[in-house]
Amino acid sequence: MLRFDDGEVAIREFLPEDKFRLAELANNTKVSDNLRDGFPSPYTVADAIQFIDMCLKTRPPQVFAIEYKGEYVGNIGLNKGDDVYAKSAEIGYFLGEPYWNKGIMTKAVRLICGYGFISLGIVRIFTGVFSYNIGSQKVLEKCGFIKEAIFKDAIFKNGKICDEVRYAKLLSQ
Ligand SMILES: CC(C)(COP(=O)(O)OP(=O)(O)OC[C@H]1O[C@@H](n2cnc3c(N)ncnc32)[C@H](O)[C@@H]1OP(=O)(O)O)[C@@H](O)C(=O)NCCC(=O)NCCS
Repeated sequence: MLRFDDGEVAIREFLPEDKFRLAELANNTKVSDNLRDGFPSPYTVADAIQFIDMCLKTRPPQVFAIEYKGEYVGNIGLNKGDDVYAKSAEIGYFLGEPYWNKGIMTKAVRLICGYGFISLGIVRIFTGVFSYNIGSQKVLEKCGFIKEAIFKDAIFKNGKICDEVRYAKLLSQ
């Protein structure tokens, strides 16, 4: 099983038993409000089983469980592109609300970027953050991502329009 540690924070492949805590932590509108509508809300154990199955089938792995002090606390993943985007990957993540603002995601993002650049052969990792999500923008900036653009009015979430802030980190930086 692939596992990368940074002290109290680790990213590792999913275990089938993560499904219960994943469903509990993901079933929170404070989490889903910051994610695409494809993230189920409400989030059930059946959703968690389907998601974990998909992650375990992807070889080499691209999506990992985040552990804090040995406990499952959230997810982080890369989504590798294809065609001319084969050397790029989109990063996505969420952490259960009880664990926010302890520096956990900053460590998890650093770990998965190392994996993406070294093991997956990626040269560019990017993402788009909803403009109101200041915490996620801070995480990316602490990890050396550069704000590349603001896509004005790109997001329609919960009946409201907002901007998307686009970030990227390059292997060559
Ligand atoms: C966004 C999220 C990943 C942050 O994870 P985290 O482990 O709490 O992040 P960290 O503790 O590493 O860093 C967060 C930073 O943002 C700051 N922050 C958080 N909310 C903030 C706010 N509303 N305004 C200003 N700063 C804020 C924290 O103080 C911290 O900065 P610091 O290290 O300088 O003190 C987590 O809140 C989460 O999963 N949210 C829901 C899902 C989500 O937003 N996913 C990302 C979609 S792009």
